[in-house]
Amino acid sequence: MRIILLGAPGAGKGTQAQFLMQQYGIPQISTGDMLRAAIKAGTEMGLAAKKVIDAGQLVSDEIIIGLVKERIAQDDCKSGFLLDGFPRTIPQADAMLESKIDIDFVLEFDVADEVIVERMSGRRVHPGSGRVYHMVYNPPKVEGKDDETGEDLMIRPDDEPETVKKRLDIYHEQTEPLVAYYQDLAGKSSTQYHKLDGTQAVDAVSSQLKELLG
Ligand code: AP5
Ligand code: ZN
Repeated sequence: MRIILLGAPGAGKGTQAQFLMQQYGIPQISTGDMLRAAIKAGTEMGLAAKKVIDAGQLVSDEIIIGLVKERIAQDDCKSGFLLDGFPRTIPQADAMLESKIDIDFVLEFDVADEVIVERMSGRRVHPGSGRVYHMVYNPPKVEGKDDETGEDLMIRPDDEPETVKKRLDIYHEQTEPLVAYYQDLAGKSSTQYHKLDGTQAVDAVSSQLKELLG
């Protein structure tokens, strides 16, 4: 099963990716997590990407497309994968089509901007695994600690309110056109497009997914 999770920053893509990975045993490909890993490793690409990410801008299509193609070619992606945060521009979506990487489901998470701003302010992440929490809506078992490793949780540098606003603007400008793009594709291929109500509680959104995917 090949899935694209489409939605604004903070819409819940990473949170539901955790559910889908467990439920269907397919790997999550999060371009955001890959970039943050490169930053942590201090690679040249990571250092260049850090400035862009912290400013709430998008990393260049060329770099991102290269990263994803390399990742999809790995053995564990043979039986499917879950794209989280990719594609988020038309050229990125075109690159998938040109590479003949067929997608079974495009799942759009619909969440209003006001809700997103509130979610980002309470988000905490475990940098090692990419696991995501919220202080109120999805709290860890022990405050400030990851459930599985007990390691410290962090605030993402790009979750500052000003940066979140910029990321939302960029989402509306550059990523939202993919809604029409994939709805159109769904009308003329085997790809299915579904819009989910992403404002519901975490478990309720997971239930919607389960119902759709079977
Ligand atoms: P990335 O890491 O992909 O960030 P994003 O798309 O902005 O999305 P987020 O991770 O912020 O949100 P999410 O939808 O995963 O929400 P989450 O589940 O965490 O990208 C970061 C940066 O990298 C980009 O800005 C860009 O610079 C660069 N980049 C990445 N991919 C790129 C690409 N393809 N091209 C170019 N540049 C790229 O949830 C958010 C919070 O809400 C959490 O606290 C969570 O616990 C909570 N929550 C989740 N669901 C619910 C719910 N149902 N109810 C209540 N709370 C909830
Ligand atoms: Zn995420």
